[in-house]
Amino acid sequence: MSKIIKPYKDSDLGKKEQVAQMFDTISGNYDGLNRVISFGTDAKWKQKILKMVATKQPKSILDIATGTGDLAILFASTTAEEIIGLDISQGMLDVGKKKIEAQKLTSKIQMVLGDGENIPYPDNYFDVITVAY
Ligand SMILES: C[S@@+](CC[C@H](N)C(=O)[O-])C[C@H]1O[C@@H](n2cnc3c(N)ncnc32)[C@H](O)[C@@H]1O
Repeated sequence: MSKIIKPYKDSDLGKKEQVAQMFDTISGNYDGLNRVISFGTDAKWKQKILKMVATKQPKSILDIATGTGDLAILFASTTAEEIIGLDISQGMLDVGKKKIEAQKLTSKIQMVLGDGENIPYPDNYFDVITVAY
């Protein structure tokens, strides 16, 4: 029999709700924490992904588990006209939205609340899909 593993075993919330709540809680500090915990390597692998995506000359990109939108923001330098950052944490999306507004990229990038396991777009809608949990 399979066992359901949840981040907090004593919580009544389901696994996804717990994950969303956890990222909501740390959203304000996520970018700084990520830089420190990854020893700065996150910026390097994101640049590598950007190069790979740019060669595809996409018109539309979906970034699943976009968090605070770093990849989505980088993708604004590609040919893409429509970039969707999808995440289950409204807190992470809200931090990303502020960064997108500050960089005047709201016409290209939309931050959408949703589950990467149940994408709210039709099949084959996007030219490129990225995901980094
Ligand atoms: C470690 S962060 C990574 C954020 C970003 N991709 C990055 O590399 O900086 C993981 C993100 O995945 C999101 N996430 C976890 N499960 C998800 C799911 N089922 N659908 C969409 N997002 C999810 C979390 O809310 C969180 O923002």
